[in-house]
This record gives sequence, C-alpha cells and structure tokens, in this order.
Amino acid sequence: RAESLAALTTLAAGVAHEINNPLGSISIRIQLLEKIMRADRPDKTAMTMHLDVVKEEIERLKQIVVDFLFAVRPMDIRLMSENPGPIIEEIAELILPEAERSGIDVQLSIAKDLPRVLLDKRHIKQALLNLIQNAMAAMADGGTLTIKAENVSDEIRISIADTGTGIPEGLLTKIFEPYFTTKKSGTGLGLTITFKIIKEHSGDISLESKEGSGSIFTIHLPVPQQEKKSLPQWQDSAAIAGSQAEA
Ligand SMILES: Nc1ncnc2c1ncn2[C@@H]1O[C@H](COP(=O)(O)OP(=O)(O)O)[C@@H](O)[C@H]1O
Ligand SMILES: [Mg+2]
Repeated sequence: RAESLAALTTLAAGVAHEINNPLGSISIRIQLLEKIMRADRPDKTAMTMHLDVVKEEIERLKQIVVDFLFAVRPMDIRLMSENPGPIIEEIAELILPEAERSGIDVQLSIAKDLPRVLLDKRHIKQALLNLIQNAMAAMADGGTLTIKAENVSDEIRISIADTGTGIPEGLLTKIFEPYFTTKKSGTGLGLTITFKIIKEHSGDISLESKEGSGSIFTIHLPVPQQEKKSLPQWQDSAAIAGSQAEA
C-alpha cells in the first residue's frame, strides 16, 4: 500500500510537470492569436500556424492523460499456465512489417520445449511490444533485432537485443522512472509499465547496454515448481539400480 501510494505520488508529480509545458505553449499561442486578430487585416497564415500548434499540444495533453490512467489503473492480471513460445512468435510477426520498413533484420530464436509459465498473455504481449518498440527506435538507421527465449535453471529468459544507440551509463537508473524520455514525442511510460507488468508476474527485468553498440533487455519469468523438467521417476530408480549392480 505504502509503495503504491509513493508510486502514485511520483506519477502525479510527473503528470503535473508534463502538463505544464503544453499548457504554457497553448497560453502563448492564444496571446499571439489575440494580437493578430486585433490587426486590421489579420494574417490568416500566421493564425493557422498558431492554431496547429495549439491542436498539437492538446493532442499531447490527451496522450498524457491516457498514459497516466493506464499507469495508475490497477492491473487486472490473470495468470494462466501458458507456453511463452507462440506468444513471442506472434509479437515478432506483428512487428515484422515495421522492422522491414526500417531496415531492421529480425532474428528469432525460441528454444524448443520451453516449460509453461504463469502469465497474462495480453500484458506480456504489451511488455514485449514496449521493449521491441524501444529497440527499434534505437536503430533509426537499421540494424538487427534479436529476440531470444530460453529456459535457464528455474526461469525463462526472454531477451530483446538491438544494435542501436545504446544507453549512456548515467541514464541506466533513470530509464525506468515514469516520464523519463529522450524522445521528442515519447511518453517515458513504456518501461515503467513494462517493469510493473513483469513484477506482477513475480519476474524481473535485467539490462545490459553499451553506448554506441546496443542494448539487451532480458525478462526473467519464474518457472513454477511442477513445470520444472525432472527425470521421470523410473529413470532415477534405473540409475540407482544400475549403480547397485556395478557395486
Ligand atoms: N533499447 C533501447 N536503446 C536505447 N535507449 C533506450 C532503449 N530502451 C529505452 N531507452 C531509453 O529509455 C527511455 C525511456 O523509455 P520508455 O519508458 O519506453 O519511454 P519512451 O519510449 O516513451 O521514451 C527512452 O526515451 C530511451 O532514452
Ligand atoms: Mg518506449
């Protein structure tokens, strides 16, 4: 409770801050419009230009509100036992056309026989999509997007690797903060939401990045005990029987 209240306060402070810029800009444009309208022959081209900016800023305000509502809404997570493979494939297919247009080569490597994990398909897709969109945005001049899924001991690791700009070391701790963005029209909420989704799955996100050569974001999802691959009972006893025979 305390944690979510603190998160909400951070978000609310972020919204207040985010709203200030567009509001200031709208207010200035309206003053300029009033000035033009007082002239004998109002300059219609200039008026259109100011109005366009006002419209743009209103769109931005709308987006801020939509994103805020999404971020504070309690997540309706419904965990089901699923094979993550097909879900990842589906997302990879979804982004393929855009990747092709941007000169990005997509490499998909999904281990066969991945164990089932508890997940909410819709939310995991959103998380993957957020990471992939960031990866593609980091490769404005093309590159390689590698999506990998493997089972390592008691977790599934899904990694999204890009050969893009990378993240400066000083920003590594900032990028998950709400509203942190380096993009002209970014919301800075993608990673915040992604992190929240993965935490709701009792998972984690790790990150490796090198400025100038790219980044790897890895989602770690726990494999439920009963899904762990253990030797079938008869194999264990066969091995014991064998060793006894040798002795
Ligand atoms: N794969 C990546 N490569 C380089 N920078 C990244 C990558 N993913 C995230 N970032 C940085 O983290 C910031 C925050 O990302 P995010 O929360 O998704 O918001 P947004 O995409 O709206 O900027 C981005 O603006 C960018 O600076
Ligand atoms: Mg993003």
